[in-house]
Amino acid sequence: MEKKRLSKALAAAGIASRRACEEIIFMGRVQVNGTTVKIPQTLVDWENDRILVDGASVRGEQKKVCYMLNKPKGLICSSARVGRKPIILDLFPASHERLFTIGRLDRDTTGLILVTNDGQFAQQVIHPSSNIIKEYLVKTMQEITAEHLETLSQGARIDEKWVRPVSVQKVRKGTFKICVKEGRKHEVRIIAERAGLKVTELTRIRIGGLLLGSLAPGEFRSLTETDKKVLFS
Ligand code: URA
Repeated sequence: MEKKRLSKALAAAGIASRRACEEIIFMGRVQVNGTTVKIPQTLVDWENDRILVDGASVRGEQKKVCYMLNKPKGLICSSARVGRKPIILDLFPASHERLFTIGRLDRDTTGLILVTNDGQFAQQVIHPSSNIIKEYLVKTMQEITAEHLETLSQGARIDEKWVRPVSVQKVRKGTFKICVKEGRKHEVRIIAERAGLKVTELTRIRIGGLLLGSLAPGEFRSLTETDKKVLFS
């Protein structure tokens, strides 16, 4: 059987995106044939090597799936459970292929998120060269003024980097839409806060060309090949 780099093999087995698999390996969470391996380039094959992640055996490649989900409020985007807090994967049957979210939404954010076991597809979506824009609908305590819109459009410093939205648009009194390219933690909330706005509801309504549409909170469906094309359009 053809040998593959460990990080690639783990991504193909649906553990996480390739980059995230590298991190998992660097952290010393992966064992190959009983030895902790911290080098992502290590060559492995599923027939001859026994691979464990966090002590659990990993099976070879699985059928690739990808779902679009309307994330309800209160669920955490994490593959690992911390305490008894509900996580997104609770919405999927336990028998399901090892799934993870592509990027994250805050616990209190609702809306469109992709859930997959396909590390390569996840990498493609996340990669900056894909240029995928995410659109959010934001409800605030205050009425949006022209000054708010001006400050929002300037963006904010997040993790030492200045993040500027692609566009900002008032929808009605206390609601605006914002489009961003980056995928930084709390980015929309931080940008809103810098403009002096208190966010009461945050919903992701679009990823690339893919719209949340009429999916109810907690509902998910498989992405079709057409959806995938639309996503990158
Ligand atoms: N920006 C945020 O502030 N939170 C999210 O959940 C997503 C984008």
